[in-house]
Amino acid sequence: MVPDHLAIIMDGNGRWAKSRRRPRLMGHRAGADALDRVMHYCKDAGIRYLTVYAFSTENWKRSDEEVSGLMKLLSRYIKSKAKRLVEDGVRFRVIGRRADLSEKLQKEIADLEEKTREGDFTLLVALSYGGRDEIVRAAAKLAAAGAKFTEEALSACMDAPDVPDPDLIIRTSGELRTSNFLLWESAYSEYYFTDVLWPDFGKDEFDKAIESYSKRERRMGGRLK
Ligand code: IPE
Ligand code: IPE
Ligand code: MG
Repeated sequence: MVPDHLAIIMDGNGRWAKSRRRPRLMGHRAGADALDRVMHYCKDAGIRYLTVYAFSTENWKRSDEEVSGLMKLLSRYIKSKAKRLVEDGVRFRVIGRRADLSEKLQKEIADLEEKTREGDFTLLVALSYGGRDEIVRAAAKLAAAGAKFTEEALSACMDAPDVPDPDLIIRTSGELRTSNFLLWESAYSEYYFTDVLWPDFGKDEFDKAIESYSKRERRMGGRLK
């Protein structure tokens, strides 16, 4: 079985740049190229949803130079890829605290979401995203509506309630943690960890992850067959 929804913690851009004695931003640029490649592997494999962790609620702690460089890179990515995303049938969406982003970037995101609304492959980009933050915002929405707290009701208040939970979550660069990614949605996700740094993540590594997933038995709490 191929995952319907793949999520990726794209980590290791900084180390990739460091190993080449280049500025960290160069690593982030190479990371954006890796995303383009991997999106195509996903489409070819029959995956319908791809969520990528691009900037966490904790990443604001980084230097002003790195944060502003990342925001510029995003803005440039949106501008340069818009046409291609529409042509390729990619529905672009953002999850996370989008109000934290500049007004300009928010507008660019909203425009691209609107332009790509009809796409049949969904790319969710997690920006100023934290799993705890998403749960707290969802809970606040429910409380404000005076609604009853149930799993279904809370799920419906998450940032992308129409998207199924991720089947497989990949983290690159050798770190064995979730770093606040999709805490609610990952309850029964399978994980795949690799030492490969995100900018080096290629077709071989993608195939290995999908192959590993295909051999897993997802019991969801049931008994061994
Ligand atoms: C992941 O790469 C991208 C972001 C968090 C924006 P890092 O920048 O975390 O790279 P490392 O972990 O320092 O190598
Ligand atoms: C997680 O990576 C966030 C993204 C990939 C955007 P980090 O590099 O920020 O996570 P930690 O600090 O290693 O946990
Ligand atoms: Mg990192």
